Amino acid sequence: MSDRTSHPLADSQIRDIGLAPDGQLKIDWVAAHMPLLNHLREAFARTRPFAGKRIAICLHLEAKTAYLALTLQAGGAEVAVAASNPLSTQDDVVAALVDRGVTAFAWHGATDAEYRAHLAALARFGPDLVIDDGGDLVALLHQSYPDVAARVTGGCEETTTGVLRLRAMAAEGVLRFPMMAVNDARCKHLFDNRYGTGQSVWDGIMRTTNLVVAGKTVVVVGYGWCGKGVAKRAQGLGARVVVCEVDPIRALEAVMDGYAVMPIREAAKVGDVFITVTGNRDCITEEAFAVMKDGALLANAGHFDVEINKHDLGRLAARVRQVRRNVEEYQFPDGRRVYLLAEGRLVNLAAADGHPVEVMDMSFALQALALREVAQHAYPPGVHPLPAELDLEVARLRLQAWGVEIDALSPSQRRYLASWRGE
Ligand SMILES: NC(=O)c1ccc[n+]([C@@H]2O[C@H](COP(=O)([O-])OP(=O)(O)OC[C@H]3O[C@@H](n4cnc5c(N)ncnc54)[C@H](O)[C@@H]3O)[C@@H](O)[C@H]2O)c1
Repeated sequence: MSDRTSHPLADSQIRDIGLAPDGQLKIDWVAAHMPLLNHLREAFARTRPFAGKRIAICLHLEAKTAYLALTLQAGGAEVAVAASNPLSTQDDVVAALVDRGVTAFAWHGATDAEYRAHLAALARFGPDLVIDDGGDLVALLHQSYPDVAARVTGGCEETTTGVLRLRAMAAEGVLRFPMMAVNDARCKHLFDNRYGTGQSVWDGIMRTTNLVVAGKTVVVVGYGWCGKGVAKRAQGLGARVVVCEVDPIRALEAVMDGYAVMPIREAAKVGDVFITVTGNRDCITEEAFAVMKDGALLANAGHFDVEINKHDLGRLAARVRQVRRNVEEYQFPDGRRVYLLAEGRLVNLAAADGHPVEVMDMSFALQALALREVAQHAYPPGVHPLPAELDLEVARLRLQAWGVEIDALSPSQRRYLASWRGE
């Protein structure tokens, strides 16, 4: 555990503190568009719910996350951050955070070993509370830092993959502290996974390739909350959309939403752009690469870079070369070329700025409220849903920020809905 009196800059492992002014400009921009976090920041500054607490954050380190860290800091916490993905870290934003008193262990393009060392440093920071995205921090605390894990009083998990891992830990009886499944809140997955991923995946692909989407055949692998958003926006951009699924109900939804549905071995022959969003591994493998068209683009938006099998790609390719920032060309012996974007990592974060600001305002308001909830109430170890009232509060605040009014149930409507007599 680090010396509690030491300075964040001395403890931090970052690229260059001199980048802080650029990072601060990025944070100022998002702060101006995050009314929910602004509201919570003011409330936290008054009530200090995290006074005396250490909070470890493992999230994508860009400006919106930085503003969440500063919001929690305003609530009295000592905050440290590390990246949940080595390619999504923005060095200027990290520098600005350190300048504002947050300890940081991250730089863009960290190797696997550096990424693990940064997470280990975050664990040694000795948090009371944690925010995780994908489950790497919580897994590390349990596997390698049991003494630190024993002192953690609770935390929150951001994404589908992380919640799955937490449930696996809870099922084995090894999860030692309470974790709120923020991803499962309605204000999270209905908006962040669907509209956030839907928009930002296309932002990443378009700014990385500068190619047209209209008229192309886009194959979306996985028709969950993220896949629905990616497919809908592809359709809006003028693409023909093909969906690949393993769940018959989600496949049926895709059919009735108007998309072609087929197995990946068939979709592989017709696709121009492939996007995986399953949370699963090996969704596009050798079988598909063997029949893909020359020039096909491959992108992943699922949490880990295991959805497109990079091992198969490397083994099959006669030549691999970088042809553009974030674009690698794999040329097969028969001359066909396919292009892997952002090394198969989350394309919207590794090759763009992640979800739109207003969407992350909702997700991070949920994180801040969920963390306050676990800090103030003694939840038992396990995976817990966010209280429905907090979910509704975030929706109300978002509507209010957009100036949207809605109706309210009358007393007689309430009685009618609660009655079985049909009065
Ligand atoms: N890029 C981002 O910013 C972002 C945002 C939120 C979530 N995520 C991540 O995206 C992934 C998906 O999240 P979600 O909320 O949509 O999950 P989800 O559970 O709602 O959907 C996943 C879908 O993939 C399908 N699937 C699983 N294996 C498959 C296979 N081999 N072939 C075809 N379909 C398959 C499942 O049946 C399911 O319908 C997760 O890893 C999640 O953590 C990424």
